[in-house]
Amino acid sequence: MKRLLYFAIFIIILASANMTPQTLNLMPVPEKISSGNGKFILTHSFDIAITGNVDKRIYPYATRVLRRLSGRTGLFFPQDNITEKSTADTADCIISIEHPGKVLLNEDESYSLQISINKILLKAKTDLGAMRGMETILQLLQNDESNYFFPVVTIGDKPRFPWRGLMMDACRHFMPVEVIKRNLDAMASVKLNVFHWHLSEDQGFRVECKAFPKLHQLGSDGMYYTQAQIKEILAYAEDRGIRVIPEFDIPGHSTSWFVGYPELASAPGPYTIERRWGVFDPTFNPTIEETYKFFDAFFKEMCELFTDEYMHIGGDENNGNQWNKNEQIQKFMKENEIKSNHDLQTLFNKRILAILTKYEKKMIGWDEILQPELPKNIVIQSWRGTEALAKAAQQGYMGILSSGYYIDLIQPTDYHYLNDPVPANSKLSDAEKKFVLGGEATMWAEFVVPENVDSRIWPRTAAIAERFWSPQNVRDLGDMYRRLENVSFRLEELGITHIKNQELMLRRLTNNGDCTALKTLLDVIEPLKIYTRHNHGVHYDSFSPYTRVVDAAFPDANTARKFRKLMTEFLAGKKELKKEIIVQLNLWKNNHEKLVKTINLSPILKEIEPLSLNLKLISEAGLETLSLLDKKQKPKEDWIKATDNLLLEAKKPYGQTELMIVSAIEKLVNAVKK
Ligand code: ACM
Repeated sequence: MKRLLYFAIFIIILASANMTPQTLNLMPVPEKISSGNGKFILTHSFDIAITGNVDKRIYPYATRVLRRLSGRTGLFFPQDNITEKSTADTADCIISIEHPGKVLLNEDESYSLQISINKILLKAKTDLGAMRGMETILQLLQNDESNYFFPVVTIGDKPRFPWRGLMMDACRHFMPVEVIKRNLDAMASVKLNVFHWHLSEDQGFRVECKAFPKLHQLGSDGMYYTQAQIKEILAYAEDRGIRVIPEFDIPGHSTSWFVGYPELASAPGPYTIERRWGVFDPTFNPTIEETYKFFDAFFKEMCELFTDEYMHIGGDENNGNQWNKNEQIQKFMKENEIKSNHDLQTLFNKRILAILTKYEKKMIGWDEILQPELPKNIVIQSWRGTEALAKAAQQGYMGILSSGYYIDLIQPTDYHYLNDPVPANSKLSDAEKKFVLGGEATMWAEFVVPENVDSRIWPRTAAIAERFWSPQNVRDLGDMYRRLENVSFRLEELGITHIKNQELMLRRLTNNGDCTALKTLLDVIEPLKIYTRHNHGVHYDSFSPYTRVVDAAFPDANTARKFRKLMTEFLAGKKELKKEIIVQLNLWKNNHEKLVKTINLSPILKEIEPLSLNLKLISEAGLETLSLLDKKQKPKEDWIKATDNLLLEAKKPYGQTELMIVSAIEKLVNAVKK
């Protein structure tokens, strides 16, 4: 009996999170999954029923799921819109829900899913859990040569963190309603539940404001969301179980507010909308009552418009320059014994907090707002590190992590994926860990426009979504990348343009010419990372073109990453991979001549010509190295010298992009040197 028990426990452990069967493409990986034998085969008669006490938003959600299944399979399902009448217990897929969920922090999003060969049962406490479960069902769809099917599985699932977000900056570049909507759909597909909308900046004020119309009239170049559009987005998000947190970034990052209301700034105007990127001086004057009268009326309107409990006040990167130079502010600080700009900002925050509290909102802000006099219901969003977050948790403050999830910085997926809001080696006690609510990926918009923003958000944000949802021990990079490829192309079904827009950008770059050679180069280059794009001689601002090769190139280039892996495995002894390496190197070697023809027809491409030449030269060096290895021949001194120089040159960026396969060739060359 005991042995049987041990065996059962063993099976349950095997079935738990990090043992995702290699054939499944789930992202995020569920908390518990066990695979059975057999398939539920999708047929023309497939239908869905919903039972229980539900919010009516679940019907259109389930209808969309049905249409997505129909679209993928070409099956003509008989069911029209799923409605409150769709409750037949004979349905193939039965979704049962206990009660309507609230689209608020800490709502229950758990679900269980049981797929047998003739029935799909999805059970959830709330409709939000049912939504998360339906996305799992969609991700389980597979096919063989004759059928589309769901594998027989049993899943029990719930999120690790309650706050799983994506921030979009709609200020540096405006992001129209359809961009937001398609990203909300994509978020729901990977179980993200917070859309943080960065709505005011030096470069733009993006919300129609009735109390102070000069905010949007003079601060936005006409690119703002009407209140009707905001309500439309809020409803769209709510229908997908996604909270919307608006951010009005104050007291710094606020030039655009002062175009219409210069009297609220800490230095005399006039002001114009900022066109450059960076941190700027204009800052609200926290020492005059007019400021608080203004914010009282402003937040009264915005707290009514936006429905979540939280209001984000930004609070980051106030450089203090205007405060330092303003005599009246300096006098105020002396009289009130305020010792630092940080303390003055705290005074400002406390006044704003009182206003938000009056309008029944809780406050969230970036790291900088944290100081011990603030109440414990605020949330700190850490952009400066896990340590800052841990410190806040130790003081009893709730926090979310964004440091490490700055997807504008073009870092590879694995870097973001391994970044954990509560790392395994965290020194926090279990009680303190509970203060860490989750995290948010941040899409700052200096270098993105509606055309390419999706390619910076996706697919990397799907891996971040898994970090926020799945158990901590789900960390296998190979398996993550395998699943990510599948999730990535599925996002296109929701209107995400990350893959297809590269083609249109390439057509423009080549004057509608042959894009093949350019695409071959694009596959192995990436935009410069972190903030280095600013350092290479090009001055960018809000009206610069974001249409060059660097803007079309993907972060974490797949082909390059796979080649690096191929080389590592080859050098570790998998000699059979040599053929594949040779094919790849020959392709790159021969690409330059073709690409030069394209470049000669498109001056905009001139800047990447050296990159293409370098790709050719190091590919040749790679082929030579392989042949030396074959012959077990030691290279001559001048060959080594020349090759080292080539590699050095190939590491240089051109057109703010860099070749991502140099390290692989370098490893190969080093191997022959030994
Ligand atoms: C920030 O990146 N300044 C929040």
